[in-house]
Parts: sequence; C-alpha cells; structure tokens
Amino acid sequence: MFHWLERNPFFFAVGVFIVIAYAGIVTILPDFMNSARPVVGTKPYTVLQLAGRHVYIKDSCNACHSQLIRPFKSETDRYGMYSLSGEYAYDRPFLWGSKRTGPDLMRVGNYRTTDWHENHMLNPAEIVPGSIMPKYPHMFKNVADIETAYAEALTVKKVFNVPYDKSGMPKLGTLEEAKAQALKEAEEIVANMKSPEVKEALKRGEIKEIVAIIAYLNSLK
Ligand code: HEC
Repeated sequence: MFHWLERNPFFFAVGVFIVIAYAGIVTILPDFMNSARPVVGTKPYTVLQLAGRHVYIKDSCNACHSQLIRPFKSETDRYGMYSLSGEYAYDRPFLWGSKRTGPDLMRVGNYRTTDWHENHMLNPAEIVPGSIMPKYPHMFKNVADIETAYAEALTVKKVFNVPYDKSGMPKLGTLEEAKAQALKEAEEIVANMKSPEVKEALKRGEIKEIVAIIAYLNSLK
C-alpha cells in the first residue's frame, strides 16, 4: 500500500518527520500541561532564598554541582527520591547542571544543616578532608541583594502567575514587608550560626550573602 512512499524520498522524509514529531509530542506534552505541574507541596522561593539562589549562580556553584537526581539505585540510595519535572516549576533558570565535580545538591536540605554549611563554606577542606571545593570567605563580608530578589519575585508573580501571596504560599507584599520578612527568616538562620561578623551585621539590618545562600541550600529538599 505504501510502496509509492518508499520510492519517493521527499514524501518518505516528510512521513518519517510526522511519525517522529507525533511520538515526541505524545511524550513531551503532558509535562507542559498545568495539571502535571507543579508537584504538590512545591512552593515558590521566599525572597531570602531567591537572594541566596542569586549568590549560587553568581559564584558558579552549578559549574561543579548538579541539581538533578537520576532514577538509578546508586543515586536514590545516596541522595533520596529521584527528581520529578514538577519540582522545578518555580526554578528560573533551572540549575540541573551538566557536571558533577561535587555531589548533587537537589535535596541537600534533608541531610546538611546551617552550622555545617557555615563551617564548610568558610573552609571545605577542614570539614571534608581532601575536598577540592574552593573557600568562600567573601560571603561573610558581602551583603545579600534583597531588593533584586524582591524585584525578581514580583516579576515572576506578574508575568508567570507564580502563586506568591496565595494561601499556604510565601508572602511577598510590598518591598518593606518583604525586607521585614527576609530579616525574620535570616534571624532564624543566624541563631544557628557562630560568626560574630554575621551576627553584628544582622543587628544593623544587614543580611550577609552566607545567610541567604544557607537559606537557599536549606530549602533544597
Ligand atoms: C570546583 C568545584 C566546586 C565548586 C565551584 C563548588 N563546589 Fe561544593 N563541592 C565540591 C566538592 C568536590 C565537594 C565534595 C567535598 C566536600 O564536601 O567539600 C563539594 C561539596 C559541597 C557540599 C556538601 C554536599 C554533601 O552532600 O555533602 C555543599 C553543600 C556544597 N558543595 C555547596 C557548594 C556551594 C553553595 C557552592 C557555590 C558557592 C559550591 N559548592 C561550589 C566542589 C565544588
């Protein structure tokens, strides 16, 4: 019946294209439908966590760390449940990463704590002997950019309908309200830290980058 098709390279190519495109759409489309994402329980980042995410990108953590657990036993034994596409619903841009010089960080919030991160970021090799991860002492000096994080949150709320201010979701409010909320979240983290420099700064209303990035790392679950 399709003999003529096999003898006609042009229509054959078109036929192959249609078959592959159809199969592709059937596999990919469900992931784009609203009902398939986000996974229940996934929340947008708070302003403080977003500021930490900016530090993560700025300091190129994603050059050495992935955030994508593959569905293999060796990975789920080590990192926990494999990643689902709906868990990335509020990640802009996603930080899957393409190289694992260090371990995956998708669920690092489940097994590392604030004080552990504080010591590790200051000097990784002291906590994990032989670690080749760089030190990040400047994070204890630089102040986190809460205003830019607020601007991003407000933008994705307006443009992509990210559900800030909905019941059970992080509150955004005005810039002043968001800053007050970020300070409150920072206080909870700094209570578990020991750096006098970071504590002093918080009393002046300054949130150091280290506090923001720990807020972000703790949120990765
Ligand atoms: C040059 C590559 C490199 C860069 C850049 C890097 N890391 Fe690492 N990281 C590592 C390696 C290697 C390890 C494993 C040894 C260790 O724990 O120190 C690691 C471990 C970690 C761990 C512990 C994970 C676990 O499961 O024990 C965390 C958390 C972490 N890195 C966060 C960061 C953050 C945040 C940044 C960016 C500020 C960053 N890393 C940048 C290489 C890197």
